[in-house]
Amino acid sequence: MLEILKRDGLARMCRFDTPHGPLETPCLLPVVNPRLATIPPRRLKELGFQALITNSYIIRNDARLRERALSEGLHRLLDYDGVIMTDSGTFQSHMYGEVEVRNPEIVAFQRDVGSDIGTVLDIFTEPDWGRERTAEAVRVTLERTAEAGGMKGGMMLAGVVQGSVFRDLRTECARDLSRLPVDVFPIGGVVPLMEGYRFADLVDVVVSSKMGLSPDRPVHLFGAGHPMVFSLAILLGCDMFDSASYAKFARDGRMMFPEGTYHLKDMRALECECPACREHTLESLLALPEERRAEVLALHNLHASRKEIERAKRALLEGTLWELVEQRCRAHPALLDALRALGRHKAFLERFEPLSREGAFFYTGPESLDRPAAFRYERRYFERYRKPAQTDLAVVLEEGDRPYSRFYAKEMSQMSEVARAHFVVMSPFGPVPADLDEVYPISQSVFPRIKDRDVQERTRELMERFSHAHEYGLSMLYEGQATLDMLSSLGDAQGGFDPDLARIRAVADYQFGRGAAEALFEGKVELTKSKNTDRIRNVAVDGEHILSMRAPDGFFTLRPGGARRLMRAFPAPALRVVVDQDSEPFNREGKNVFCQFVKACDPALVPMDEVLVVNEKDELLAIGRALLVAEEMLAIRKGLAVKVREGVRA
Ligand code: GUN
Ligand code: ZN
Repeated sequence: MLEILKRDGLARMCRFDTPHGPLETPCLLPVVNPRLATIPPRRLKELGFQALITNSYIIRNDARLRERALSEGLHRLLDYDGVIMTDSGTFQSHMYGEVEVRNPEIVAFQRDVGSDIGTVLDIFTEPDWGRERTAEAVRVTLERTAEAGGMKGGMMLAGVVQGSVFRDLRTECARDLSRLPVDVFPIGGVVPLMEGYRFADLVDVVVSSKMGLSPDRPVHLFGAGHPMVFSLAILLGCDMFDSASYAKFARDGRMMFPEGTYHLKDMRALECECPACREHTLESLLALPEERRAEVLALHNLHASRKEIERAKRALLEGTLWELVEQRCRAHPALLDALRALGRHKAFLERFEPLSREGAFFYTGPESLDRPAAFRYERRYFERYRKPAQTDLAVVLEEGDRPYSRFYAKEMSQMSEVARAHFVVMSPFGPVPADLDEVYPISQSVFPRIKDRDVQERTRELMERFSHAHEYGLSMLYEGQATLDMLSSLGDAQGGFDPDLARIRAVADYQFGRGAAEALFEGKVELTKSKNTDRIRNVAVDGEHILSMRAPDGFFTLRPGGARRLMRAFPAPALRVVVDQDSEPFNREGKNVFCQFVKACDPALVPMDEVLVVNEKDELLAIGRALLVAEEMLAIRKGLAVKVREGVRA
């Protein structure tokens, strides 16, 4: 069973239970050649590798290994008590043509030697195949997967997504696989893409596979073992990796780093302080016998790989994974293509994009503006935002420091004195009305002061869109005193509107959907503001505290009164997570919602959304924060779905 512990977008940290104990993902499974282990498996365990992968086809074809595996079991054979995954011989068919084994035999063999996770004999779909041949290979792979599912016994089964670079075939294959008794989803047929540095294709393949895969099982990227691609693959929701590269590169005298691979002969020093390198200098390493040198380099490559996965996990926890990926993808133009290809999938990625993150949005280059966080703002602004009814006049200002309404406080108050003007800042995220300037990622974003052309161009494009879409009777660019004079001449100073009320209305619609402001703020609205910062803290309506505004991300947290008002305006299942009656008393007491009790939910929920926990009669039980998207809450049967902040007693 899979449990999502932490996530950021598609990226996730999970606990995955196997017959040999739990695995924490994302993780790398070093490939162990059963005939020649560069690093003995026992040593891998000591180095912290909880799982490895080996090849059942090689074992089965070697009479001595086969007998020992069958009589003693795979774990004894390899002298390893961690999780052992086995591959089936498919990769050999990719390398050498036909293999002399059939699917039922190799699946039974993996099961009989006690593999924890055995793999179907899938058909390796080569990137140069035509569509028809690929579709046929996918069909046969699925047929073999169904066959393997019926005979897996106590072994977990890896069912491979094939389909080459045909995105629809990948998605269909993934959907069909999700309905089969498969426990791990490797994405296969990608080695030639990685070897050919076709990283944009790799992105398309992984995304189109993820689109069809049920989120309740781990995704393994077959043959991905270079630290260069880990953060990218993790960002796209891959949980497991395997690779023989650490050993192959080592035999070749090459050291792996997140920024690339270097040959010893080109190096002047080892440039690494890992436990393997620390015992050597470049000279002492070169003086070693070849075998020993390969071992040290293999250890280095493993350390470098593990370190990079740890680095990506930390970024995931901090909310800075996009920044890390953007840095890593600058290591090679082909990786930059991958980053650019990600931009094609922002609509899909946005479904998993959290409402906000702890980390700030750091701009690292033009591709940053294609992140789902930017796409989310743009979409919601144009779909959900409505200008305050009391004004018909927009003054458009150049970007300044954040939050914009602080930066322009003086100018805005001067203008407000003489006219009922509303203020909109031209930001690279799109038009930012003063009332939205504190929501994530607007005021949490950091851009270089010297703007590049892409930022200017995008700002211009979005303002162009604004000029066609806005509802103001009049809009003008702010030009200092001239604008002030012009506004004075309009003679429309009476009945200026309250910017605080405009802010709570704007944030409510942006966060919960159009119509939320109307539902929430009907009645006498009172605001409590922070004495130190003068920012809005609490909102009460008709004497009832219904919302609090969070300082870090500018969004609301709900109180029961606010929740009830929203429920009246938004019919079920909007904004809701519906739980089983067994869960009800616990949630009413303020206990969290676990996935296995979720019966239904709003398909549009995103992580970090405020949600209403209700029972099947649509009675409010609690309020909390969603940790998962709808399809995850419904598919995954373990772990937290909603972190409850407040229970509502009957
Ligand atoms: N190893 C690398 N790629 C593949 C693949 O597509 N299928 C299998 N079974 N093993 C692999
Ligand atoms: Zn090292």
